[in-house]
Amino acid sequence: MRKTVLITGGAGFIGSHFTEYLLAHYPDYEVRVLDALTYAGRRENLAAVEGDPRFIFIHGDVRDKQTVREAMQGAHDVVHFAAETHVDRSILDPDAFITTDVYGSFVMLETARQVGVERFVHVSTDEVYGAIEQGAFTEESPLRPSSPYAASKAGADLLVQAYARTYGLPVLIVRPSNTFGSRQYPEKLIPLFTVRALHDQPLPLYGDGQQRRDWLYVGDHVRAIDTVLHRGQFGEAYNIAGGNERANIEVSRLILHTLGKPESLIQFVKDRPAHDRRYALDDSKLRALGWRPEADFETALRETVLWYANHPEWWQPILQNKQDYQAFVQRWYGR
Ligand code: DAU
Repeated sequence: MRKTVLITGGAGFIGSHFTEYLLAHYPDYEVRVLDALTYAGRRENLAAVEGDPRFIFIHGDVRDKQTVREAMQGAHDVVHFAAETHVDRSILDPDAFITTDVYGSFVMLETARQVGVERFVHVSTDEVYGAIEQGAFTEESPLRPSSPYAASKAGADLLVQAYARTYGLPVLIVRPSNTFGSRQYPEKLIPLFTVRALHDQPLPLYGDGQQRRDWLYVGDHVRAIDTVLHRGQFGEAYNIAGGNERANIEVSRLILHTLGKPESLIQFVKDRPAHDRRYALDDSKLRALGWRPEADFETALRETVLWYANHPEWWQPILQNKQDYQAFVQRWYGR
């Protein structure tokens, strides 16, 4: 069936992988990407689909009602990725998180209600649940966010649920765990530590390095969203787990081993305030729709690390950006 899908945040890390995936797997779909191209959204992330006649790029902000309305007009489905996503930045400067993640999501929902879309997928996060010491969160677990970032995502998640109940908007929510792969902005653990190791710079590991994350490969992540978009039940949330729980120190060592760098590069630094100790998700609801993660963690991590090693042209301009990247690194790690 010929249809148009609006993807917000499609020039970001996961959004650009999803855009590529959708165009590659659905020959009769048209994709519109709406992206504000803030620091983490980059047009070059969409290089593989530029020139495809089924792809349209719209430069705009999800907080701008007029732009969102124009972008959504005539779209059948919406997949809403656009958000501020970095926990540490949210601790320094929460403003943009509240306006983009909460208010921006409200604009998206309100427009979807007025325009009348067929399906609205909201990309939430496992961080809305907060930390868990043992076991795993189900979709029914209470939302107990720790950081301004997680709280802003929880606010959006609750708004999406309210729009389903109040207006019958056909929404679907995904709550993915820590995702990794190519084209992730080098502020997040894996790309940050990789580019620092490549420069023989210390890897700033927070606290005791024993915090645990469940790592989800981006290819498995985009297949999960495809599954929920096409087979999910309206009004429902779906956890996306990677099944690869590792302590941060283990991930750091794997990065160093891949690059042939010494473990002495690991430097324990001041912890992140309100640092969630462990994340873990029960993904049985999503598996019941037929999805399961396929990537082998060690192989996918090695491939990802080598992708950064082989693509300095992708990350060098970011590292050279004094106003944004260097200023953030100095403020955060020098605090
Ligand atoms: O769980 C899903 C979430 O994963 C997403 O919703 C967020 O958008 C994404 O940023 C990510 O959040 P985390 O805070 O878990 O990811 P981050 O890569 O910032 O950190 C991963 C772990 O590594 C975390 O325990 C903090 C630690 N860390 C991170 C950085 C940047 C360090 O020890 N040192 C660092 O310099």
